[in-house]
Amino acid sequence: MRYGDITSRLANLGGDKWAVHLEALKMKANGADVVIASIGEPEIPPSPILMQGCHDALNAGRAGYSNGQGEPGLLLALAERYTERRQTTITSANVMTVPGTQTALYLTMMGLLNPGDEVLVGDPYYVSYEGVVAAPGGRFVPVPMSPDNGFRLQAADIECHITPRSRAILLTTPHNPTGAVLRAEDLRAIGDLAKKYDLWIISDEVYEELVFDGTFASPLDFPDLAKRSITVSSISKSHAAPGFRSGWIIAPEEFVSRVLPLSETLLFGNQPFIADATEDALRAPNTTAQAMRTSYRRRAQMLVDGLADQDNVTVALPDAGMFVMLDIRATGQSGERFAQTLLTREGISVLPGEVFGHQGAGFVRISLTITDEDMARVVRGLTTVLSAANTEVSA
Ligand SMILES: Cc1ncc(COP(=O)(O)O)c(C=O)c1O
Repeated sequence: MRYGDITSRLANLGGDKWAVHLEALKMKANGADVVIASIGEPEIPPSPILMQGCHDALNAGRAGYSNGQGEPGLLLALAERYTERRQTTITSANVMTVPGTQTALYLTMMGLLNPGDEVLVGDPYYVSYEGVVAAPGGRFVPVPMSPDNGFRLQAADIECHITPRSRAILLTTPHNPTGAVLRAEDLRAIGDLAKKYDLWIISDEVYEELVFDGTFASPLDFPDLAKRSITVSSISKSHAAPGFRSGWIIAPEEFVSRVLPLSETLLFGNQPFIADATEDALRAPNTTAQAMRTSYRRRAQMLVDGLADQDNVTVALPDAGMFVMLDIRATGQSGERFAQTLLTREGISVLPGEVFGHQGAGFVRISLTITDEDMARVVRGLTTVLSAANTEVSA
């Protein structure tokens, strides 16, 4: 039978990148004692306010169809939150709620791109970005980022890759996998570039609540960038609730009215009980994020301290997020080989940096969403594999 081209474009961009993780899950299902540090899934229960809110909303019968843009209460809560936190006035007309940042990114790309249009993305990049750009036939243009400046995307590096087909710059701040947080001056320079070449700025801010050090900044901190800025986020990370699939898009009014029919066609509305619970959680102090910031920072420090004596690895404390990138290039191994060895010999699953792009080669990404006890085991396992790599090199 015949299929649409989109199925071919996405054929290798779905689950393939998670091969090591999926193998680890299989080993675990077969009874092996495996530490899964290959996915950013909060290890703590969802925010209690969210759970209570869901319960209350379901008891109140809030399980019917919703409208396409979102429940008015949640739209308003988001508008107020962004107006309070950014230097731009956001109203409900600037907001669309969707099932997660992933859907937000998909709808955004479908709404902005024609086949052949280019999206500039810092490399390394989050695994699903290639797919959301490829879906409408867009061209994914990786812009190398360097550990030398903490993997912060630089305007000058973007500019070298701009062509007449460039349509958008996709930012991730805080960043997955590197944990980098863009500074106001980085964003100002990127914003000037976007104005110069008339580009959209799409800002994936799903890790906003998980900044350990420094200050979070966003394109919406610059009022002159508001008309070209699209912010996507969710409660998946901030409230330890990825399974709720509760996210949103903050964008110019015209974008919302143009993309709404797309969302309505795909989703036929949101889920009112999840919208109510999300509204409750967004309006209350977020102790869940506070707890995660403390434990993720502590576990990142465990890695940095625990590997300090190894001379074939470089590990820097991330500024934010759920991950640490280990630079294992000095072992002479690829991230893929290293991750496979770590899984087979030590029962520890991490993702090879290669799945995050060319600039991820020779790195592995370790998730901080495991217990302290498991992190201690990860440090021991890494020490064993790194020491063995040293012996192999000198043999
Ligand atoms: C950078 C980034 N964007 C988007 C997502 C997807 O988030 P959501 O659960 O809100 O769809 C993730 C999930 O890990 C992520 O790391």
